[in-house]
Amino acid sequence: MSRDIERKLTGWRHTIETGLDAAIPLEGGAGVTELRRAMRYSLLAGGKRVRPLFVLASCEAVGGDPAEALAAGLAVEMIHAYSLVHDDLPAMDDDDLRRGQPTNHVVHGEAMAILAGDALHTLAFETLAEAPLPPARIRMLVSILAHAAGVDGMAGGQALDLLFEDRPADEQAVSKIHQLKTGALLAACFEMGAVAGGAGRTAAHALGEIGRRVGLAFQIQDDVLDVTADAETLGKTAGKDAAAHKATWPAVVGLEQARQQADDLLADALGRIEELGAPGAVLLHVVRGLANRGR
Ligand code: IPE
Ligand code: IPE
Ligand code: MG
Ligand code: MG
Ligand code: MG
Repeated sequence: MSRDIERKLTGWRHTIETGLDAAIPLEGGAGVTELRRAMRYSLLAGGKRVRPLFVLASCEAVGGDPAEALAAGLAVEMIHAYSLVHDDLPAMDDDDLRRGQPTNHVVHGEAMAILAGDALHTLAFETLAEAPLPPARIRMLVSILAHAAGVDGMAGGQALDLLFEDRPADEQAVSKIHQLKTGALLAACFEMGAVAGGAGRTAAHALGEIGRRVGLAFQIQDDVLDVTADAETLGKTAGKDAAAHKATWPAVVGLEQARQQADDLLADALGRIEELGAPGAVLLHVVRGLANRGR
């Protein structure tokens, strides 16, 4: 059973990588190869691809064909890649290592990195708009993704993350930052997968609720790993959050409590996925795979 799921996931990963690669050919369009190279540098640099996997698995969990969710999965990964390029910029987290490689601005320069982020952002919506899906579904997908990436989602959370570098934060503040900067896009993955698969409003909302829990747990784990893991394991510089006075979960509640809360959120999410029955098997497997992250 679990081997079948792994085999299916390997196939999905391959489809995702192929789709991302095909989305930005190095040559083409107006021929601005330098910008295409900068976009490809971050979009194709590896990464766990958990977001597109969540999109495809959520689609399947509501009885849809995962192929219907591919464009949505690629679009979310493009938004994610753009958010990382900008997150690493000197004006934001000023990081020089990402996925074990020098960050985009270190290799391509700050201006090109900003533009690569901009162009990945718009490519996400172009990809969604051109998805081979009924127009009503596309409209909903665009709306969910735009909301999750914008001022009431990722961008808003990133703004708060920076504002709280020099403000004292309590658990409520960190919770808001994390739900916006990371939780919103993760929740969108679940909801978009459901919508792409033809789910009605209630089912899509239920998947979104699962995604919110997974999303918050994911950022709590990211904060824990920043404290406990080394750069080799992380592929990014460790210990940066404390150095930058970031409002993080371990800073507010301590490491052990942070781990416990991530576990609790994931356990809640897993219970809800179990209620979806057999179609939710892959989703269950992927979320279970996160359970030991940060341990
Ligand atoms: C890192 O995301 C940024 C966060 C939102 C925590 P991931 O841990 O998914 O990064 P990649 O895509 O696997 O590199
Ligand atoms: C990332 O948060 C959130 C984004 C929206 C990119 P972090 O700043 O903690 O992510 P890493 O640790 O640099 O990957
Ligand atoms: Mg950041
Ligand atoms: Mg960062
Ligand atoms: Mg981090």
